[in-house]
Amino acid sequence: MKPIDYVYIETTNYCNLQCSFCNRDEVIGPLQHMTLFNFESLLEKIKDHPVKEAKLMGMGEPFLHPKFDEICKLFKQYFPDAKLISATNCQYTITPVFERALEYIDYLYFSIDGYEDSYETYRPPSKWSKLIKFLNRFKEVDRKGCTVAVNYVVNSGNVDDIQPVYDHIVKAYKLDELRLNIAQEWNPDKSMPSGYTEEQLEYLKNNWSSMIKGRAVWDYKNCFWPERGLYVTVEGRVLMCCMNTAAEEFGNIFSSSVDTIRKGKKFRLVAEGCKQNNPTDHCKTCSYKELAPLLSRLGLL
Ligand SMILES: C[S@@+](CC[C@H](N)C(=O)[O-])C[C@H]1O[C@@H](n2cnc3c(N)ncnc32)[C@H](O)[C@@H]1O
Ligand code: SF4
Ligand code: SF4
Repeated sequence: MKPIDYVYIETTNYCNLQCSFCNRDEVIGPLQHMTLFNFESLLEKIKDHPVKEAKLMGMGEPFLHPKFDEICKLFKQYFPDAKLISATNCQYTITPVFERALEYIDYLYFSIDGYEDSYETYRPPSKWSKLIKFLNRFKEVDRKGCTVAVNYVVNSGNVDDIQPVYDHIVKAYKLDELRLNIAQEWNPDKSMPSGYTEEQLEYLKNNWSSMIKGRAVWDYKNCFWPERGLYVTVEGRVLMCCMNTAAEEFGNIFSSSVDTIRKGKKFRLVAEGCKQNNPTDHCKTCSYKELAPLLSRLGLL
C-alpha cells in the first residue's frame, strides 16, 4: 500500500440534469452539500499524503455547492502544489462563486457531448441556448490561469457532432482543449454501451485518436486506485474508485482514519485481486478493462 497521491472528492450530490449516460440516480443518497467543516476534517486526515492531483467532482454538479470557491481555496491551502481539477455542466448562470473558484482550479472540464439537438438529447433537461449563454458570459471572465477543456463523452449517436463542437465551441470560444471520453458504464451490473459502426470507428481513429483519453493496454494489475487513490462521496463514504460507484463503502472517512479503512479486510481483498490480476467481484465488469480493446481499435497505445 503506497501513500495516496490522487483523490476524487464529491463535495455535493445535487444536480440540475439527468444525463443519459450517468448513473447518479442509482447511487446517490439524500441530497446534500459537504460542509466546510467536514471537508476540512477530510483534508486533515489526508494532509500527510503526497497528493499530486485532485478531482472535485462526483455524482453531482460541483458548482451547485454554494461555497465551492471556499472548498477549492481550502484544498489549495492544504495542497498548494497539487493539480486541482473539476468539471461542470455549464447549465446555470455564472456567479461570483464560479469566478472566484477559478483562482484555485487548475483544470476545468466543460461537459459538452453533442451539438444543438444531440447535446440536449443526452443531457436532459439541458438547453443548448443556456449553454451558449454560459459560454458568451464566460468570454468576459478572467480565467486566472485555469485551463479549460471540453470533455465530450462519445457514444455511437454523437460521433458526427465532434467536429462542430470542435469548430464552433472549442475554437470559437478559445477553450484550451477537446478531450474525448468513450462513454463508460459505471453500473457494475451492465455492460459498456457500444453499437459503433465500422465506419464510425474508422472515422474516430483517423480524425480524433489524439484527443481520445484512456489506455489501450490496461489490465487489473495496472489499476492505481487501490494502491494510491482515494474516492470519497459527499457522505464521507470511501469507495475504491470512480468506476464502481454502486459498491458498498469500505468505511467512512468522517468516523475512521484513512489507514483503518485502507487496511480493512474488504479493501485489501479488492486491492490484492487487482495486484494479482485476479479481480474480485468488485472489479469484474470494470470499464477500464472493457474499454481497452476498443481504444486499441481506435489507435491508442
Ligand atoms: C459525473 S460528472 C460530474 C460533474 C458535472 N456534473 C458534469 O457533468 O460535468 C464528471 C464527468 O464525468 C463525465 N461522465 C458522466 N458519465 C460518464 C460516463 N458514463 N462515461 C464517461 N464519462 C462520464 C461527465 O460528462 C463529466 O465530464
Ligand atoms: S453527468 Fe454530471 S450533470 Fe449529468 S447527471 Fe451526472 S452529475 Fe449531473
Ligand atoms: S473497478 Fe476495480 S479495476 Fe476498475 S478502477 Fe475500480 S478498483 Fe480499479
